[in-house]
Amino acid sequence: MALQIGDVAPDFTAESTAGTIHFYDYLGDSWGILFSHPKDFTPVCTTELGEVARLKSEFDKRNTKVVGLSVDDVASHNGWSGDIKDATGYELNFPLLGDPDHKVADLYGMIHPNASDTLTVRSVYVIGPDKKIKLEITYPASTGRNFQEILRVLDSLQLSASYSVSTPVNWHEGEDVIIATSVSDEEAREKFPKGFREVKPYLRFTPQPNR
Ligand code: BEZ
Repeated sequence: MALQIGDVAPDFTAESTAGTIHFYDYLGDSWGILFSHPKDFTPVCTTELGEVARLKSEFDKRNTKVVGLSVDDVASHNGWSGDIKDATGYELNFPLLGDPDHKVADLYGMIHPNASDTLTVRSVYVIGPDKKIKLEITYPASTGRNFQEILRVLDSLQLSASYSVSTPVNWHEGEDVIIATSVSDEEAREKFPKGFREVKPYLRFTPQPNR
């Protein structure tokens, strides 16, 4: 069965452009993002890898280690990395796993046989410091991902991990958040000293608590 939110993210050892990666050791106590690419020397993947390299400092700020995967081997990735720099202006600054035998792709269900027997889809797994999967999204090979959305979800996940809140539709960092229904009004007054606004008894907004 496919990996689902709340499942433990499988550990693995694999070669990468940054040397051998022992996944759990590499993540340590950080958050992690593991994302797959269908194939080296392909156009959409080239743009995505340049974008993740550009955003590396944003992931660092969020204590999050990013790891890419493409089913070709590391020698091929090393050849491709020059093209990524030429095409996007950004050097690969995070590990890109080689996975020619599909070991990691199979562990994470990144190959969807009815789409392709040999290429991965564009999977994204966000993994918490407890090594559990917090988010999984799948895009088809033809659609480049929106990594601003991945950052937005990370912000939401990290907020909910620290406070009894969730985030409303289209929320962005800095906007009001929703108090968990498990928190009584009395508790809410204590936990959220900036106050809250009740739209419905089950829908109470409060300013983002960590700002
Ligand atoms: C791409 O990255 O452009 C791509 C890769 C595999 C299939 C389709 C598109």
